[in-house]
Amino acid sequence: MPLHGIDHIELYVGNSAQAARFYEEAFGFQRVGYAGLETGSRDRGSYVLEQGAIRLVLTSALTPDHPIGHHVARHGDAVKVVAFSVADTHAAFDEAVRRGARPTREPRIVSDPDGTVVLASIAAFGDVEHAFVQRDAYAGAFLPGYERHRRSPHPTSDVGLLAIDHVVGNVGLGEMDHWVRFYSDVFGMTELNAFTGEAISTEYSALMSKVVTNGNGRIKLPINEPAEGRRRSQIDEFLEFNAGPGVQHLALTSRDIVATVQALRERGIEFLRTPGPYYEALRQRVGEIPHSLDDLKRLGILADRDEDGYLLQVFTKPVGDRPTLFIEIIERHGARGFGQGNFKALFEAIEQEQDRRGNL
Ligand code: FE2
Repeated sequence: MPLHGIDHIELYVGNSAQAARFYEEAFGFQRVGYAGLETGSRDRGSYVLEQGAIRLVLTSALTPDHPIGHHVARHGDAVKVVAFSVADTHAAFDEAVRRGARPTREPRIVSDPDGTVVLASIAAFGDVEHAFVQRDAYAGAFLPGYERHRRSPHPTSDVGLLAIDHVVGNVGLGEMDHWVRFYSDVFGMTELNAFTGEAISTEYSALMSKVVTNGNGRIKLPINEPAEGRRRSQIDEFLEFNAGPGVQHLALTSRDIVATVQALRERGIEFLRTPGPYYEALRQRVGEIPHSLDDLKRLGILADRDEDGYLLQVFTKPVGDRPTLFIEIIERHGARGFGQGNFKALFEAIEQEQDRRGNL
């Protein structure tokens, strides 16, 4: 099943006009497309934002009792669609369904004067869907029906974000292997790494994680499930407040994580705090890296090394009211892992926040 990469991520949100301002002003995205009443979209408003190769779509219902409104009522602002770019939507959809995927939208051809796009979608974990997008014959802003924003009405400089590195799903207890099999059966993805509950545990909680990736490595999907711990894990907290499985975080690559995180902090984005002792052991654990330890410590940036190189990463606090979706910023220098060496320090930082929320 040839998937080129991630075409876009669509979030269903309570108020897309205001959510768009947040991702523009705080995260440095540029508005490139819009659909709403003015463009003939009678039931939904959508803003399309881009930075580097990242494309986010923020969508809200315009009418009462709309499925998008119901989705938001149940899950809060949440990722609804992880869309894959394909060469042939009909073939990808037919093959996925033949291999056991549940269709949510049959293939359809949509056109406007800028060309033609072929779309379809299937169900994934929770209420998340995977769309197939075939856009080789399209030159418009995003999709037919969206008008182009030639210049953002709220211009902000970008913060150096380049691409989507990985998208993480949280699923229920005992469901991780089912979803790993789903991605392997339906898309021919392969397992990249596996950690047991043992490997990712703190004094209080534990989780298990497996990562699936497609043939060209551009799509990386870690899948987490809770594991038995002394107290409630961050995954349990997510599953409660998201009302079931869903996307836990989007990891976005930066060319200069220190500058990116500095800019995001100045714009009010809050990051998890890293316990001080973490940095005392860092050089010993990761070896020499050409970055100022003071910068990393000041900004709470974590570092990890695997056999292929090293990476730097940092995690925001949840971006909405509910302790569900958050954003990771990652800068890779060869390393192909996900910061396994940081999990303990990271989870302890998350547990401090969980405790403040009364959810530990
Ligand atoms: Fe991650």
